[in-house]
Amino acid sequence: MDEKIIHMDMGTLTSNTTGDARPTLCLGIESSCDETSAAIVDSNRNILSHIIYSQIPEHQKYGGVVPELAARAHILAIDSVIEETLKRAGKTIDDIDVIAATAGPGLIGGVLVGWMAATGIAQSTGKPLIAVNHLEGHALVPRLSATAANGENGATSVEFPYLLMLASGGHCQILLVRGVGQYELIGQTLDDSAGDAFDKVAKMLGLGYPGGPIVDARAKNGNPRAFAFPRPLCDKPGCDFSFSGIKTAARTFLDKNPAPHSDEFINDFCASFQASVVDCISNRITNAMRDNRVRDAGPKTLVVAGGVAKNSAIREALEKLAQKNNMTFAAPPMNLCTDNGAMIAWAGIENYRIGRVVREPIAPRPRWPLAEL
Ligand code: KG4
Ligand code: ZN
Repeated sequence: MDEKIIHMDMGTLTSNTTGDARPTLCLGIESSCDETSAAIVDSNRNILSHIIYSQIPEHQKYGGVVPELAARAHILAIDSVIEETLKRAGKTIDDIDVIAATAGPGLIGGVLVGWMAATGIAQSTGKPLIAVNHLEGHALVPRLSATAANGENGATSVEFPYLLMLASGGHCQILLVRGVGQYELIGQTLDDSAGDAFDKVAKMLGLGYPGGPIVDARAKNGNPRAFAFPRPLCDKPGCDFSFSGIKTAARTFLDKNPAPHSDEFINDFCASFQASVVDCISNRITNAMRDNRVRDAGPKTLVVAGGVAKNSAIREALEKLAQKNNMTFAAPPMNLCTDNGAMIAWAGIENYRIGRVVREPIAPRPRWPLAEL
């Protein structure tokens, strides 16, 4: 094992005993941003092994992900991460039935590293290869493992159709998930993602990267009504988002009230900012529940996924909203919200079941909307 690989997270390993007698085993690889990750997942929803090598410490001093550094770090890590994933599952490549990797969207230098590794393994072994859309990984992972707002053990799985709030660093969308490969866009951000707003506000306050978890923690000790942040689009019909106005409000206020800031100020600022994001998401999801396409499909579950789904206030607000509308609430366990290989392996299994395998060489895509699947 490369001794550079120090930040490994084994994740939650699951053990389900019912299902296929000879389950399909999928090796999934994720490398689209700042995590090099691999996992072995089976068709009975077991995670046999899972390694997440986070590059966060390498990007922290720049206040965000530096694409060239990320690509280089993926190259250095990918072989050892895959080898170690197989070793920890007690498997060799011969035991694996399907290879899956993120083929976009994401930082193309990183995507290429994972995709070429997967292509190489598939071609040299003759095993089927699945090109996973990263967003589809986030969208389907609640079917591998889901929990209520504060639960840690992902004991249940979510059935189609479901209403999905997909909020990550790069995306912010409301989707009606009808089935594998069937994603109807109900609303999306017109400018920045919610994750980006968390990261930028944390940066403005000098709190470090990634901002989401830090703002979340600070907000727990702050007053959400201390500062008046805007709620963009909340007085308008529809399900689209806009977060740039919230960021500008933060910038303008901090320009007028420069550092040093007391802990109390920072906590209150984080709580007030977070409350505006929570209100915007709740408002837009309420509209989505009334959307005719959603009503006709009749989803029974409201799901939040993507890195921002780790946010405690967002999970709580959406759980309440689901209850109020007679829906069940579900979210992936915390370690399956941010980027990880298990979600890619699971999307690999789901796509393999419907025969979506790569039949000729494909080029990875930096942009790849879910609607184009
Ligand atoms: O899904 P993800 O790992 O990467 C992308 O596909 O973009 O999401 C990363 C994003 C970052 O913007 C990070 O700040 C945010 O998820 N995030 C959070 C929390 N934990 C991570 N945002 C709010 N609250 C959190 N607890
Ligand atoms: Zn992601």
